[in-house]
Amino acid sequence: MQRRQAVIGLGLAATGLGLGVGLGGVARAQQPIVIKFSHVVAPNTPKGQAADYFKKLAEERTQGRVKVEVYPNSQLYKDKEEMEALQLGSVQMLAPSLAKFGPLGVKEFELFDLPYIFDSYEELHKITLGPIGKDLLKKLESKSVLGLAYWDNGFKDMSANKPLKNPADVKGLKMRIQSSKILDMEMRAIGAIPQVLAFSEVYQALQTGVVDGTENPPSNFYTQKFFEVQKAMTQTQHGYLGYAVIVNQKFWDGLPADIRKTLDQAMAEATEFANKVARKDNDDAVEAVRKSGKCQIVALAPAERLAWKKAMVPVYRQAQSRVPKELMDAVFKATGFNPEKL
Ligand code: LMR
Repeated sequence: MQRRQAVIGLGLAATGLGLGVGLGGVARAQQPIVIKFSHVVAPNTPKGQAADYFKKLAEERTQGRVKVEVYPNSQLYKDKEEMEALQLGSVQMLAPSLAKFGPLGVKEFELFDLPYIFDSYEELHKITLGPIGKDLLKKLESKSVLGLAYWDNGFKDMSANKPLKNPADVKGLKMRIQSSKILDMEMRAIGAIPQVLAFSEVYQALQTGVVDGTENPPSNFYTQKFFEVQKAMTQTQHGYLGYAVIVNQKFWDGLPADIRKTLDQAMAEATEFANKVARKDNDDAVEAVRKSGKCQIVALAPAERLAWKKAMVPVYRQAQSRVPKELMDAVFKATGFNPEKL
């Protein structure tokens, strides 16, 4: 009999999962539950490494009853497609950037895209590891999606073919952004022309001049080799980019309880791992870009950083059409940040 791997989608086939012994008492190999985990970044990024770590823990601890297939670098799906694939059950697990939940109909996640909203990972964790983060994940349930965890990446720098010391330097530049309306507002606030592109298309768009610049944490900037096609990365650190790990809800609910418990624990440990490596990976990436000799790293003086902040503050007022004011206020209360007091 040909062995066939069960790719468990919407209607999880409960039969066969617990059958160690087949007809007539003859031992029969179990078919593993397959979790396809698709993502768009390189394996040597915080998200890429955490996905691989989750795979290792999940497979070891379930003793092979679960097989996690990780597909990095948009191999399987690009940004927009992966969300659809998850809802259809063609893929079971994703970790999209928080800036990509708007098209799913949960625009509150764009909160994380607000400029300068978190000054440090410590401030960020007050939200992602606290009650506000938990409530936000709950909002996904109406979309048949379950939010399991937040994984860190880091703070974004802006790049172009010139240093961007002042917000005025970005004026008129075509800047690639993720599919977030807040990021659109942010770029318009500084006079740039925002252009939404899938992550997998950015390198070529920079190379051919379809866009002039972009924003991303250094770990993505380095691993996607944007330094080969950008002359300067300015340490604007003007916003945060991180992830929510999500699963198809029916799939997750249909898992045998012991497996789900083991996977929940593996996810908790993968999350700790992700959040531990993120900071160092981003620091290392800055050095790696510097060492490449191809792209200048431009630091900002405190007065220049303040000018950037002031230029972006108007976004907070406009953003209330996407992120409820009460939610923003709750975040300000938790972190101590107040855009009106800059
Ligand atoms: C981007 O599109 O810039 C990021 O979302 C990529 C990622 O997943 O880190």
